[in-house]
Amino acid sequence: MGKKIIQISDVHFGDITFSDVLKSNLLAQLEDANPDLLIFAGDLTASGFFHEYEEACEFVDELQSITPAHLIPGNHDVRNVGLVHFENLVSKRKFVHTDKSSNFTIIGLDSSEADVSHGQIGRDQMDWLKSELAKIPDDRAKVVTFHHHIIPIPQTGRERNILLDSGDLMHVLTENGVDFVLNGHKHVPNVWMLNNMVVLNSGTATTGKLRGNMCASYNELEINDGEVLVNMVKTENGSKKQMAHYSMEVKDESFVIHSYTHNPIHTV
Ligand SMILES: [Fe+2]
Ligand SMILES: [Fe+2]
Repeated sequence: MGKKIIQISDVHFGDITFSDVLKSNLLAQLEDANPDLLIFAGDLTASGFFHEYEEACEFVDELQSITPAHLIPGNHDVRNVGLVHFENLVSKRKFVHTDKSSNFTIIGLDSSEADVSHGQIGRDQMDWLKSELAKIPDDRAKVVTFHHHIIPIPQTGRERNILLDSGDLMHVLTENGVDFVLNGHKHVPNVWMLNNMVVLNSGTATTGKLRGNMCASYNELEINDGEVLVNMVKTENGSKKQMAHYSMEVKDESFVIHSYTHNPIHTV
């Protein structure tokens, strides 16, 4: 049976460019799309303040009324000791979600560091990730999400804020057979294939914090028998652009992506 997963990030409640119109569009589009799961890849707020979290929590409640949602914090969420609000009002900092009917497991990590824009996973969390990945059977798709990107994204200006321990993390991810990585942070949607691992970035869904000609957007993953289709959805009007298509199979009891197509979304 087909499944639809929505990947959203960087809504930034409290930011001067936050748009109520885009938020309403987003919620209406999600109602129509009727997804099976939503992954929020960080930056719920602008500065981690309590009043921003109060507004953000109403939004999270609306998301949860549409579909089950898992959230992890971004660098903005932990500014001004905002992590206490994230943990009290929103969610734990990491999660494991298993969908047995569609045969995938998603692990969420906290890559944020207090009051700085860069992030890291850290040794303790890396060990936890390894132990959780080891529990996932090889015939299941392995998905990991965290806020910061691990490799540069085109059309984002001067490169900065890659995870401090991205090399070690990439090693853990690829050595343990992770198939999909979902990130936010740069506000620019993108997709890379790295050692047969898809690295998928979502844009900002509800703000004008945009680079170049990018628009506010989020990602939609449609999982069907033997394939995954990834669309970038423009929040302004719900129009979709296909970013990627993957064909996959379980071969020798292991889940593998055996072919893929990436469609350019950047003009460099
Ligand atoms: Fe952001
Ligand atoms: Fe961020």
